[in-house]
Amino acid sequence: MNKLLTFPDSAGMALSIRAKALLFHDPLSSRLLEQVERIARSDATALIIGETGTGKELIARHLHAQSGRSGAFVAINCGAFSETLIDSELFGHEVGAFTGATQARPGWFEAANGGTLFLDEIGDLSLNLQVKLLRVLQERQVVRLGSRKPIPLDVRLVAATNVDLHKAVAAGRFRADLFYRLSVAPVTLPPLYQRPGDILPLARHFIQTYGSKMQLGQVTLAADACAALLSYEWPGNIRELENVIHYALIVCGGSQIVAADLKLVGAMHRQHAVAAPAQAIPNRLENLFEQMIESGEPALYEKVEEALLRTAFSWCHQNQVQTARALGISRNVLRTQLKRFGMIGAEAEAATE
Ligand SMILES: Nc1ncnc2c1ncn2[C@@H]1O[C@H](COP(=O)(O)OP(=O)(O)OP(=O)(O)O)[C@@H](O)[C@H]1O
Ligand SMILES: [Mg+2]
Repeated sequence: MNKLLTFPDSAGMALSIRAKALLFHDPLSSRLLEQVERIARSDATALIIGETGTGKELIARHLHAQSGRSGAFVAINCGAFSETLIDSELFGHEVGAFTGATQARPGWFEAANGGTLFLDEIGDLSLNLQVKLLRVLQERQVVRLGSRKPIPLDVRLVAATNVDLHKAVAAGRFRADLFYRLSVAPVTLPPLYQRPGDILPLARHFIQTYGSKMQLGQVTLAADACAALLSYEWPGNIRELENVIHYALIVCGGSQIVAADLKLVGAMHRQHAVAAPAQAIPNRLENLFEQMIESGEPALYEKVEEALLRTAFSWCHQNQVQTARALGISRNVLRTQLKRFGMIGAEAEAATE
């Protein structure tokens, strides 16, 4: 199932070209999306956990969009504010509340009243601020600095973190009571390499988005580029994929992106990559084949055979015995295939006899 959700253009959106579409294709992502949409309809505080670039902010925006709440989506980066102004940031202030307060201003919670307050990088919150935040959450009201009138709050909280908050709690850097309050509905975004069915649809999505911005015509992905994208570890996840495609569009010279256009700086395979569960493999392959058929890839059968062979051969450092074992075929069959695709010449073959 391919699912593309688009957000309405909004002046308030922090991400430019980025925050307008969410794409889910891999079965893991589709399940995640269903979970997010179920949570969205409740009022539960959500904690989005995921590596950098996995789409935490987009998911938070989607949660808000699906919640039916009419108020604003207010995003706060917890690591990027001034500790001295924090009370006024949190609670807001009236004119004259302190030197320089020439205009009244609502705080974060008030600005998000009736809507959603997104606390990004919650793990960066200082202990001092954690206490204040907890108080607001308990009291469900704020009082502006320089005022006495409490303002009742109806704010949906969504927090995000790329660090393990359990560890931060154990290390005394994060309050356990705040952690439990925030993580009523945890949402874990898997890293991109664990949802390989998303890689090519996302790549095509970014080709389209950036291609039309750059006024390019139709740009396709060559089979070797698809294979490279699929076997890469993606330490920077979707954001890295987006940047890799953007760069490839700049250097590819027009109509097709080949593997050499892709600037992949990490390793090709994660050291700690967990083996995919056996039943997930056919799923992942079917997803991929569907996309290739859909895109009208010529000589598909041969390309798939060649890509499998080439990947295994290079993974096994050109060792034929190991390659044959990895593929579950005899060494004879392997050699015939290697010759067929020009991966070994006649001399190389003679040398192995
Ligand atoms: N499902 C998706 N479909 C389309 N684009 C996506 C998707 N998920 C993420 N992106 C894009 O990937 C980029 C990273 O997403 P986002 O900023 O939400 O990630 P993040 O987890 O908040 O990253 P960081 O931890 O670095 O702040 C954005 O440009 C976003 O538009
Ligand atoms: Mg983010």
